[in-house]
Amino acid sequence: MKMTVIGAGNVGATTAQRLADKQLATEVVLLDIAEGIPQGKGLDMFESMPVEASDCRILGTNSYEDTIDSGIVIITAGLARKPGMSRDDLLAANAKIVGSCAEQAVKYSPNAFYIIVSNPLDVMTFVALQKTGLPRNKVLGMAGVLDTARYRTFLSMELNVSVEDIQAFVLGGHGDTMVPLPRYTTIAGVPITELLPQDRIDAIVQRTRNGGIEIVNHLKTGSAYYAPSAAAVQMVECIVKDKRRILPCAVMLKGEYGLHDVVVGVPVKVGKNGMEDIFQITLDEHENAELVKSADDVKATMEKLASMDY
Ligand code: NAI
Ligand code: 2OP
Repeated sequence: MKMTVIGAGNVGATTAQRLADKQLATEVVLLDIAEGIPQGKGLDMFESMPVEASDCRILGTNSYEDTIDSGIVIITAGLARKPGMSRDDLLAANAKIVGSCAEQAVKYSPNAFYIIVSNPLDVMTFVALQKTGLPRNKVLGMAGVLDTARYRTFLSMELNVSVEDIQAFVLGGHGDTMVPLPRYTTIAGVPITELLPQDRIDAIVQRTRNGGIEIVNHLKTGSAYYAPSAAAVQMVECIVKDKRRILPCAVMLKGEYGLHDVVVGVPVKVGKNGMEDIFQITLDEHENAELVKSADDVKATMEKLASMDY
């Protein structure tokens, strides 16, 4: 399948490389507005294919015509917040960028699945839904897989066990109010509530919520991209291989979890039709209140966006 990655920055370029190395795509088109960057990175990556023993073709471009007939489009284009920029400035700027990327991409790839990465994630997924006009099963936001990967990493560090044996979910919006679910977190089937004291669980939950800023504080000039690209590629793999895995993805809700007309992270069965189903798990009163609060935060940002010109 031909795939397009829009935005040839840190997340986009790493995503393209992972798609090619894993041979998930026959062709990867890497598109950016910056002239030369996608061409240079794309050619450099293409030249690594003989070493990787992958026959994936990689093309860097500034033109949407080259993206024609992609089966999957991943949108990573956008600005990171800079000094002096308010969250609202970022919201308006990225809504313009993601909106225009989605509008142009869908003209050439109307049948593609769209995976959105740009921040603020949940609202950018809503923008992509609006601008592509596609049904909700075809437009998925990536954040929950990343947040859950961070949570599983911290748990493996704490318990000194394989990450493979840790099952977990982080739901809600991709922000300070995301909702890790310790009650549904197990190590080889054993709930962590039986393995760790509450104060350690609380600390790991908090570190997960701060996972993005922890990396920014180290890097100082940008945000995370290795784990984010791995997470986006896992979603691609589930679609391409029709795996029907249950992954936390940001999708438009229409009554599921009691939430309406808001994009927020919930467990989704991901397969050849994109979102095959929303997996409903029972939440207790506290978990439900946290999910509602997180969804309310996303709704407030969506409302701010409605009053902006983008
Ligand atoms: P970056 O700054 O390295 O790359 C962004 C790229 O977008 C740049 O190459 C820029 O030229 C390009 N771009 C800007 N406007 C464009 C347009 N109109 N069309 C095409 N390309 C355009 O940033 P990075 O680290 O790759 O992050 C990208 C986005 O992903 C940011 O919004 C970031 O906050 C978000 N992000 C989201 C995560 C998530 O969990 N959902 C995780 C990590 C990053
Ligand atoms: C992250 O969580 C910046 O949203 C990005 O790393």
